[in-house]
Amino acid sequence: PVFECNIMCKCSEDCKNRVVQRGLEFKLQVFKTTKKGWGLCTLDFIPKGRFVCEYAGEVIGFTEACRRMQSQQSSDMNYIIAVREHLNNGHVMETFVDPAHRGNIGRFLNHSCQPNLFMVPVRVHSLVPKLALFAARDIVPKEELSFDYSGRFNNLLEEKTHEGRLDRENEMRKACYCGAALCTGFLPLDKSLCDITK
Ligand SMILES: C[S@@+](CC[C@H](N)C(=O)[O-])C[C@H]1O[C@@H](n2cnc3c(N)ncnc32)[C@H](O)[C@@H]1O
Repeated sequence: PVFECNIMCKCSEDCKNRVVQRGLEFKLQVFKTTKKGWGLCTLDFIPKGRFVCEYAGEVIGFTEACRRMQSQQSSDMNYIIAVREHLNNGHVMETFVDPAHRGNIGRFLNHSCQPNLFMVPVRVHSLVPKLALFAARDIVPKEELSFDYSGRFNNLLEEKTHEGRLDRENEMRKACYCGAALCTGFLPLDKSLCDITK
């Protein structure tokens, strides 16, 4: 886990272990894409490894995440991110972030199967992590910013829909228009959140 220095530390505000808490450092712009609704691009050159922005939103529990996920229409331009951290004692810490009602500029980040950002859960003043996005490579001005929504989930469409549950899962999948050469064709779907028996 990544912890930043905070109010409990004796270091100054200039400490190198204070990054995400400083917020945006690059000029970003929301723009209209052709097939994905709104998107986010950079107006500045962003060197590889630099912090870009957070994916902020309401932090909700598993049951509420399932409820919201199942009540979302496929036309809704929203994405509830589920982050699972595997602890060395076997426990899994889950964080669900929904930017639908409260969020930041990160809510305009689209998914790509070949993204230029990666997500890291970073803790600052709380055990609840901030979902921080960093540049996976150098990014030039006017390039669209994107990250892979999938995490550790397999992003392949199930072919055999022998059970209602699979039908429902495939119904909830959205076509991916990221345009990457290795695009899987669909946006990632966290299956644990679309179990119709829950
Ligand atoms: C976090 S929002 C991103 C901003 C969104 N495009 C908008 O207009 O508000 C996530 C939603 O954007 C759309 N989206 C994101 N990436 C996409 C992609 N690669 N292909 C198609 N739609 C995408 C989907 O509707 C998704 O549920």
